[in-house]
Amino acid sequence: MAHEITLPRPAADFHVHVRDGEMMKLVVPTIKQGGVSVAYIMPNLVPPLTTVDAVLAYKSRLEAVDDSITYIMTLYLSPAITPEVIHAARQAGITGVKCYPAGVTTNSEHGVASYAPFYPTFAAMEQEDMVLNLHGECPSSGHVHLLNAEEEFIPTLKDLHSRFPRLRIVLEHCTSAAAVRAVLECGPTVAATITAHHLFLTIDQWAGNSYNFCKPVAKFPSDRDALLEAATSGNPKFFFGSDSAPHPITAKEKAKGASAGVFTQTHAVGYLTEAFDKLGKLDKLVPFVCEYGRDFYKISEKETSWKVVMTKQESIVESQIGEGNSGVVPFKAGEKLSWTTTIVEE
Ligand code: DOR
Ligand code: ZN
Repeated sequence: MAHEITLPRPAADFHVHVRDGEMMKLVVPTIKQGGVSVAYIMPNLVPPLTTVDAVLAYKSRLEAVDDSITYIMTLYLSPAITPEVIHAARQAGITGVKCYPAGVTTNSEHGVASYAPFYPTFAAMEQEDMVLNLHGECPSSGHVHLLNAEEEFIPTLKDLHSRFPRLRIVLEHCTSAAAVRAVLECGPTVAATITAHHLFLTIDQWAGNSYNFCKPVAKFPSDRDALLEAATSGNPKFFFGSDSAPHPITAKEKAKGASAGVFTQTHAVGYLTEAFDKLGKLDKLVPFVCEYGRDFYKISEKETSWKVVMTKQESIVESQIGEGNSGVVPFKAGEKLSWTTTIVEE
């Protein structure tokens, strides 16, 4: 019989982009397909989600597409996010605030140029026990470039942690050995998400292939190995956040300025199972995808009526989802995975 793993409950993905409109309708159903029932939703829509009402309206649109998923909602850090907004957000059940340094990635042009003006906001978040989600990169300029942008951000992470030691901070999609070390050096209020694609990719696979291009970029083999080590270490500071980021084919195949983002939602747990299996660390899969993130966030969630069963049986990643040039090409499109994800309705 094929080797089989039934997750004790579906996975929780603590970093998800599902966009809005037609793209949202295409992508939201793939959350469940990939084995996930809890999705932590990013606010970098156009325009970004900077009011409580906009976040709640977005949540309703998501629920209209698939009501079986628990959507955990975030605000986009901008001058509009005052301490008063934080108190109202907490009342409204919003969990986190995502901070994008201005200009580092997709829809980050309304992001943050300097952190000090937000100290009162961070203090209110600390008081309300909300979570600060950091896109941990410094914008390229002078000596800062794609490959050291995350390492250059570490002093900012440490500074915020020392100013607000009780504020829960997640360093999102960490991609470097330096970031892993920094998270380990911080106290228990600081954790990090790790994506599925960064467990596979290094610089060679995105230079020349825009479908593997995302921010932060995948780095050196030694960095990828540090991420694999962290994800499979059994340390609860590291948990799953896919940063699955759909872009239409037209935006990926642009000769100049291809959009950053790798789409992994359809096989989220599949890619992870593959990576953990290769290292002989399948015993660490469930804590990484199902437990540590839920514990850090202290979430309450909907009951699900379905189970996720992983079978060691070959599956082929679809070449695209959606129609024509508005479709989305998943990570490892057309390639074999040695695990198949089955959603079993109970
Ligand atoms: O590659 C990325 N894509 N990184 C981000 O931070 C944003 C995301 C997106 O929204 O497409
Ligand atoms: Zn993201």
